[in-house]
Amino acid sequence: MAKAAKAVASAPGQIFFFGEHAVVYGKPAIGAAIGLRTTVEAKKRSDDRINVFSDKLGECSGTFLNRRIVAKNVGEDMQLVLKTVESFLNEFGERRGVDLEIKSKIPIKSGMSSSSAFLVSTYAACSLVYGHRLKLKDYFGLLIRLQKEIHGGKASGTELIPSVYGGFVEVKDRKPAPAKIDFQADIVIGDTMVPMSTAKMVQRVAEMREKHKKLYDDIFEGIGFVVNEGREAMVKNDVKRVGELMNINQGLLHALGVSSEKIEKLIFASINAGALGAKISGGGGGKCIVALAPGRVYEVAEAIDKAGGQGIKTDIGGEGLVAEILK
Ligand code: MEV
Repeated sequence: MAKAAKAVASAPGQIFFFGEHAVVYGKPAIGAAIGLRTTVEAKKRSDDRINVFSDKLGECSGTFLNRRIVAKNVGEDMQLVLKTVESFLNEFGERRGVDLEIKSKIPIKSGMSSSSAFLVSTYAACSLVYGHRLKLKDYFGLLIRLQKEIHGGKASGTELIPSVYGGFVEVKDRKPAPAKIDFQADIVIGDTMVPMSTAKMVQRVAEMREKHKKLYDDIFEGIGFVVNEGREAMVKNDVKRVGELMNINQGLLHALGVSSEKIEKLIFASINAGALGAKISGGGGGKCIVALAPGRVYEVAEAIDKAGGQGIKTDIGGEGLVAEILK
């Protein structure tokens, strides 16, 4: 494959309709790509420097030496950026550096899968400038290890699928894959504006499960049941039922201990403004909610804003990874 000096790639974030947390314990889950995306531009270098510019994290420079990127005074999120680049260079036996420019519309640690969108777009842009042909089906295997690290050791990998393929994702028997679900309904994402680490929330659930094993496993079982019912309702485009099942899923997430006062506030504000259902999307503890709001998008977004969050109007099930060489 021809190498290029410069390339750009962009990938979407995602939301969970059903099944987060329980999916880590082998239960099914359903998610969808959202309209918010991360774009990464990569420029190949002829030396061993790595320069990163991120609109959300600032700038950082390092050197790629002995298979490690060495950089000083780097925060936790920027570390992840460098680790991803390091991982790419080592995976493909590259020895030279790269300039990366990251622009993202996805808030960080917000439950909208900013990390998956970043991982996928970075690997895609770098693979173009270094001349390594990646097929869409290669990304999951290449990135699941990094995703696990970000989630503190346990990760279902659900979120990588919409970032690569767009559309909907379904997890069955621990295998996330693109789903033939064409559910089209208005949603509003409610950002609590309380960033939260997914690793921390996954850990919290694991600790509580140690204490209440049977109970937690029963709740996971219940969530699995909701996911299967939810899938059927989505396939039939039965929005009312999807909304009811989202509310039931939220009750079970609350029982797992991953809700918060702010989350509940945004959920009740959404329902009172006409949403058919609303629940946590992702790790919880802060992060975001997703409200199903056919024909009520403006009212629900406004209610979320008034309740102290940020209502985000976006579409679902759209385009996945897009990458191109720049002249
Ligand atoms: C985090 O966005 C979703 C979780 O289910 C973790 C995972 O699936 O890896 C909490």
